[in-house]
Amino acid sequence: MTVLKALIYFFGAALAFPALAQDKVLNIYSSRHYQTDEALYAGFTRRTGIRINRIEAGEDALIERIRNEGARSPADVLITVDAGRLWRAEQLGLFQPVKSALLEKRIPASFREPGGHWYGFSMRARVIAYAKDRVKAADVPTYEALAAPRWKGRLCVRSSTNIYNLSLMGALIEQLGEAQAEAWAKAVRANMARDPKGGDTDQLKAVAAGECDVAISNHYYYARLARSAKPEDQALVAKLGIVFPNQSGRGTHVNVSGAGVLKHAPHPAAAVQFLEYLAGDDAQRYFADGNNEWPVVPSVRVDNPVLAALGEFRYDTLNVAALGRNQPASQKIYDRVAWK
Ligand SMILES: [Fe+2]
Repeated sequence: MTVLKALIYFFGAALAFPALAQDKVLNIYSSRHYQTDEALYAGFTRRTGIRINRIEAGEDALIERIRNEGARSPADVLITVDAGRLWRAEQLGLFQPVKSALLEKRIPASFREPGGHWYGFSMRARVIAYAKDRVKAADVPTYEALAAPRWKGRLCVRSSTNIYNLSLMGALIEQLGEAQAEAWAKAVRANMARDPKGGDTDQLKAVAAGECDVAISNHYYYARLARSAKPEDQALVAKLGIVFPNQSGRGTHVNVSGAGVLKHAPHPAAAVQFLEYLAGDDAQRYFADGNNEWPVVPSVRVDNPVLAALGEFRYDTLNVAALGRNQPASQKIYDRVAWK
């Protein structure tokens, strides 16, 4: 190498490094906003030197924003909740497929979109809550049991336009077939103590207040109340029992919080690195802990007293992509039975 060449090499490299440092960013659009997220993102930057910019907004608002930004979107990764919503983003063509041996090895197949468009990173269960003084756990062993006439005027559940209920119906369609799934929805509708209103927490409160005896809720709304220091939350939780439905059969319906790499990601390599990071032991704990969820990587354990008290359970291993695929059929069924 001549002196001149060496000089060019040296200065060229010196010039290149700041540019490279500038390039080491990752833009994340997230509908999460939990305390543990700070540690989650800091861990990635520490490990890779890649700085994270975050935009946080509501789930549907983020999807709309990415859609409007189109090919000029700065977003690399979308993090959001529920397979139904991840599927919507996929349907809009917002994701690019990611193939990663690490993700395939770490994340069980049922928690991954088969084409690699999005991956689940934590698991939530749709459980049955019951009033301990009026109902026994054995009375509600399955989702199907909620359709029995004995629950007439005793059941609370939120609106059918809510994505959690659409995904639950998506699972029922898959497992029972459309006709039986619709019969279930019709019977559950007939059993309602009131027209659907409020979120999952409101259903739990209604059970505790005696307005209904059983309710359907995502488990973490219960966990949130159970971990609350407020005496009124503790009093409420003391009245509730939680059942993981369908333990002797297909298992409890579960859903995910998940993420995918966006089609127009300016930093696709860093984006894939981030997804792989999310499948790591520490990140799995942070990601799940933020919302009292379970890690999807089976070997990772969280130190969460409420989840420990709820115990182990069998979950339905239906691929989460089916929950998305069945959304239109689910909405039609709910509309036909006037679930509201
Ligand atoms: Fe939620």
